Amino acid sequence: MMVNLNSKASSSLRKSKTFNNPECFIEGWYWVIPSPMLRVGEVKPVTLMGRELAIYRGKDGKAIALDAYCPHMGAHLAEGTVEGNSIRCLFHNWKFDEAGTCIDIPCLEKPLDVRVRTWHTGEKYGMIWVWTGETPKHPLPFVPELEDDECDSAIASSFLKNCHPNVVMINAIDAQHFNTVHNLPLKIVFLKNDINENAITFSNTTRGGEDSFFIKLIRPFYKNEVTYSMCYWYGSTGTVTVGPDFLHFHIMFALRLIEGGKAEGKTILITKKRPGILGWVFNRVVLWLTKMVGNYFAKGDTQVFQTIKFDFQTPTKADMSIIQFIQHVEKQNAIAWGTWEAE
Ligand code: FES
Ligand SMILES: [Fe+2]
Repeated sequence: MMVNLNSKASSSLRKSKTFNNPECFIEGWYWVIPSPMLRVGEVKPVTLMGRELAIYRGKDGKAIALDAYCPHMGAHLAEGTVEGNSIRCLFHNWKFDEAGTCIDIPCLEKPLDVRVRTWHTGEKYGMIWVWTGETPKHPLPFVPELEDDECDSAIASSFLKNCHPNVVMINAIDAQHFNTVHNLPLKIVFLKNDINENAITFSNTTRGGEDSFFIKLIRPFYKNEVTYSMCYWYGSTGTVTVGPDFLHFHIMFALRLIEGGKAEGKTILITKKRPGILGWVFNRVVLWLTKMVGNYFAKGDTQVFQTIKFDFQTPTKADMSIIQFIQHVEKQNAIAWGTWEAE
């Protein structure tokens, strides 16, 4: 039976300060640009969480992200050129090294003591990520069961959603809608597990649904419960893991908040690296299958995200995972969209 939670609980959920707030976001790693789109010697403009950046790849192969505007007169550094591991502004040719320090001003004998702010970058799953604070407090977002593995990955799609990334994310643990929108013949009950203060997993714990033909069909492939688990980083990047015991599929939905409280995302397909040519071929097939699984998940409720005005007026016990997700988001370190300053 569904019961309403008490009104105090529901009003505190509606007044959440970080969850679904378009003016702030959680300090963390966010995707910026797919790795192959930034070759050695290239520089590109990017806007991340309302802040404008230039990102380039120096000759040592490392991606450098820095504030976009030149401290001389404000030219966008993405108009400039990469020289070795440094970047030279197009306008008056001032040059900045990979730490953002000015190292050359052609019309002066000695460079001035000015610098451009740089941001930590990392690359994983075919994507360049930027840490939106001082020193990264965690490794790059990873799929828990592949934490120590080398992986093959592919970026399957790019998408925009007309609502906040947090709202898109809860869809994957919204157990009620699996049975309504997706006609899943199985009641999913999630168990939450905190990986660290910024990462959380929700895993299915039920074996039910045995009277369904579909579940009977897939049951032999599972020793215990049917695998369905979701791992979230910063309330914004979520990876779903599904599939029989002998082959798990991992689909990462990497989202970021854009203007107007909307979400922009990439779907990344991930599998463990397998050795040799055969392993490579096998992985192409696995990644293709992963894409099919991902398409299945994306179907059915995409239209809801175009029109929803999220307002959690009536939380019920069946929404428990969503409530836990909101609480998890609320506990994290929020910074202001645009300025990246502490709230
Ligand atoms: S604006 Fe960049 S060198 Fe003058
Ligand atoms: Fe759905």
